[in-house]
Amino acid sequence: MSDASYPGLFICFEGIDGSGKTTQAQLVVERLCTLGYDAVYTTEPTKWSEPGKKLRESFFAPIRLPVDDEFRLFLEDRILHLKSEVIPLLNAGKIVVTDRYYFSSVAYQGARGLDWQYILEENEKIAIVPHLAIFLDLPVSVAIDRIASERTEGVNTFEKEESLRKVKDIYLLLADKFPKLITKLDASKEISEIQQNVLRLIIQLWQNSSKVDN
Ligand code: TYD
Repeated sequence: MSDASYPGLFICFEGIDGSGKTTQAQLVVERLCTLGYDAVYTTEPTKWSEPGKKLRESFFAPIRLPVDDEFRLFLEDRILHLKSEVIPLLNAGKIVVTDRYYFSSVAYQGARGLDWQYILEENEKIAIVPHLAIFLDLPVSVAIDRIASERTEGVNTFEKEESLRKVKDIYLLLADKFPKLITKLDASKEISEIQQNVLRLIIQLWQNSSKVDN
């Protein structure tokens, strides 16, 4: 896996559905920009690439894509995301905040039955290691309640709960395996409290990597 040895800083947010990572990722980018840092929000799957669009369409299809096809599409989308967004932004010295990255593939496609170590290895061939992965850790039952209250259409809670449990177990396994890379934050706290922690982590990292000349 290539090292993120670019002038910028690369952060990703991870977590089960309903953990609040999109809210936190977008908020921290806003906050960083207000404070004078050059931060950009990106997301996976991308909204613009062909594999990203196929994946997003597939989320609403009555039948799910076979897991191998899904995995390949996420990988193709990731390669394009890195090439067209992340790497140019990092080369321009920006703080790139990505909403989901390869740990999502390991956790989600792993939960669907694909060997998680294989997923990790395949990603390690194409992906840059981020400087930090922030894992928003939330009890599955709380996530299910949040998802159900946010959606107008019905959620199959039993099915969802079972799959999110598997996803979360893999995330926890990854957090154990990569304690320096993955920081777990308690996502059941208030949005503002989590946000303060997130902001502190990123600013500390930026300062420690002596990317500041101001
Ligand atoms: P996302 O747009 O982040 O949805 P949400 O904000 O509700 O979490 O992600 C959409 C779905 O894509 C999410 O359920 C997780 C899944 N996903 C994978 O299964 N594998 C991956 O590699 C990625 C990046 C996402």
